Amino acid sequence: MRKIDLKNKTVFVTGSAGFIGSNLVLELLRTQSPVSIVGLDNMNDYYDVSIKEWRLSEIEKCAAEHHDAAYQFYMGDLADQDLLNRIFTEHRPEIVVNLAAQAGVRYSITNPDAYIQSNLVGFYHILEACRHSYDNGERGVEHLVYASSSSVYGSNQKVPYSTDDKADNPVSLYAATKKSNELLAHAYSKLYDLPSTGLRFFTVYGPAGRPDMAYFGFTDKLLKGEKIQIFNYGNCKRDFTYIDDIVEGVIRVMQGAPERRNGEDGLPVPPYAIYNIGNNQPENLLDFVTILQEELIRAKVLPADYDFEAHKELVPMQPGDVPVTYADTTALERDFGFKPNTGLRDGLRKFAEWYKDFYLHD
Ligand SMILES: NC(=O)c1ccc[n+]([C@@H]2O[C@H](COP(=O)([O-])OP(=O)(O)OC[C@H]3O[C@@H](n4cnc5c(N)ncnc54)[C@H](O)[C@@H]3O)[C@@H](O)[C@H]2O)c1
Repeated sequence: MRKIDLKNKTVFVTGSAGFIGSNLVLELLRTQSPVSIVGLDNMNDYYDVSIKEWRLSEIEKCAAEHHDAAYQFYMGDLADQDLLNRIFTEHRPEIVVNLAAQAGVRYSITNPDAYIQSNLVGFYHILEACRHSYDNGERGVEHLVYASSSSVYGSNQKVPYSTDDKADNPVSLYAATKKSNELLAHAYSKLYDLPSTGLRFFTVYGPAGRPDMAYFGFTDKLLKGEKIQIFNYGNCKRDFTYIDDIVEGVIRVMQGAPERRNGEDGLPVPPYAIYNIGNNQPENLLDFVTILQEELIRAKVLPADYDFEAHKELVPMQPGDVPVTYADTTALERDFGFKPNTGLRDGLRKFAEWYKDFYLHD
């Protein structure tokens, strides 16, 4: 693995107004300055844009506090190849972190176009820009890190999910685009010696997270007095990964690029890697919502006498759902000495406190 010192480097982060992207930019500013960060986001309204604006304002504040850091934001689309080329020509990023994507599994049933444009056409534009960064003998991009997803495991039964397992039976268009990203990256790594690392994230949660995700939706519903549905009577286990753990993992991975080397045939072996980033500790869904509910009461999002039992409905499994999913993180630990470790209560406490401040301040 080739070590990369992020100090004095230019890092291009796509999806920088998104949940993971914004937290990554904040942590880079805090811990890696002097660093130069270029952000891109199209600020689409897939979910409440005011959360994206709030995240950008947090970044602006943080950048202003770090005088030795440079930060520039572009509002634009990955599908706009001219814009990407302009950004690469002007800033010459050494590290590219592609987090912009159309996320969500259910939305892909009604809005397939968004997935093709952002996740396939957009990702192809990133790969092309990385490839041409080497034109004219330039040093170019030293490491492309991009978001994949645990959804590539489809309905695999074997747990924990390992990057050595077969993952070519996606069960949603979203998953199919993420798996395609890994395949495209492999081809570009091989053809152009582009060091690339794909990260399969497992359900990420935390403050200013995504309103389309279950824990956020549960909170909205409980607050409105509506019932939440808990599938498989709460007996399904998932890996919930706290945002700070994800960010720490991404920053560590950014600093270790797969080595460029030639194989026995004298041709480049693709400098290519894939890792899981998950908690490696599956939690029962019912325990998760119980802790969430307790923390919502503690943060005064819900009243102390909230009748939780009356607002939860235990329902059977949905077709296609898998009872247990969690990440095998052995490779991440081996190569980067890191494994997520934030407990559910700590993480949900921070989410509940943020929710209170953001939505319910006087
Ligand atoms: N949060 C999770 O649990 C999770 C799990 C697995 C994988 N992922 C992946 O991690 C990445 C980040 O996820 P997130 O949770 O921060 O999602 P997010 O939706 O909060 O962030 C993505 C950002 O990208 C922007 N974007 C989307 N399409 C774009 C385009 N064509 N051009 C420019 N910007 C665009 C959106 O406006 C958004 O701000 C995504 O690739 C997602 O698929 C997330």
